[in-house]
Amino acid sequence: MDVANNTVFITGANRGLGLAFAREALRRGASKVYAGMRNTNGFNEPGIVPVRIDVTDKASIAAAAELAADTALLVNNAGIAALIDSPLADDVEEQSQRLFDTNYYGVVRVSKAFEPILSAKPQAAIVNVLSDIVWLPRPILTPYAASKAAAWSYTNQLRFHLRDRGIQVLGLHVGFLDTDLTNGIDVPKSSPDDVVRQTYDALAAGKSEVMADRGTTLLKVPGYITPPEGVF
Ligand SMILES: NC(=O)c1ccc[n+]([C@@H]2O[C@H](COP(=O)([O-])OP(=O)(O)OC[C@H]3O[C@@H](n4cnc5c(N)ncnc54)[C@H](OP(=O)(O)O)[C@@H]3O)[C@@H](O)[C@H]2O)c1
Repeated sequence: MDVANNTVFITGANRGLGLAFAREALRRGASKVYAGMRNTNGFNEPGIVPVRIDVTDKASIAAAAELAADTALLVNNAGIAALIDSPLADDVEEQSQRLFDTNYYGVVRVSKAFEPILSAKPQAAIVNVLSDIVWLPRPILTPYAASKAAAWSYTNQLRFHLRDRGIQVLGLHVGFLDTDLTNGIDVPKSSPDDVVRQTYDALAAGKSEVMADRGTTLLKVPGYITPPEGVF
């Protein structure tokens, strides 16, 4: 699906990768760009329409879906991270529940709310922002990794379920990005603008996934997009 001449809704689009998705959609000729955000105060990006949405709050999701009923491309981008001591840390359960609420259940809630809107369009798509961490062991990011792995699994189920309704579902996997989320972490980071360009290009090419950097490409597990003969 080409973003040009289509309406886009992005969650968590007031900053970071989400804002890069919004700006690039506008640059590519999207007919409308809705930037979903928890707090719309002070957001001022010409041509981009701010919409209040908290992905942990069903009422705000329903209101956003009603307002943005012309959406043809949904980008589930909103996400949070947390560092813990290890997979056995005292706070592993509490942090996992907190991160799952946004990174997994958030994707589920928003996808459910927007699916009837997308199904009514001749062409529609969902992009889910995932991570290399679904394959990569980083024990201090255990709750984040588990929540993204759950969202990855959901993405694969959703893609299979929606394929006959003409809704393309694309998973974006990437390692460290240069955004607020990685402030203070001194590692090589990809540019959000570059990752967004790769994602919209892949979407236009009809792809199901983007591995947006070299490390992620090396980690990728083959075989699940189209299950090989004999698996079922
Ligand atoms: N940065 C990385 O290295 C990296 C790598 C792989 C994947 N990702 C993923 O990329 C996505 C974007 O992250 P980022 O790097 O751009 O991080 P970021 O700069 O911290 O931005 C996160 C965005 O998500 C929003 N958000 C958080 N909780 C929300 C909620 N309950 N409802 C609605 N919006 C919410 C934030 O809104 P507020 O301003 O209100 O907090 C913010 O707009 C996330 O899914 C993240 O997991 C990031």
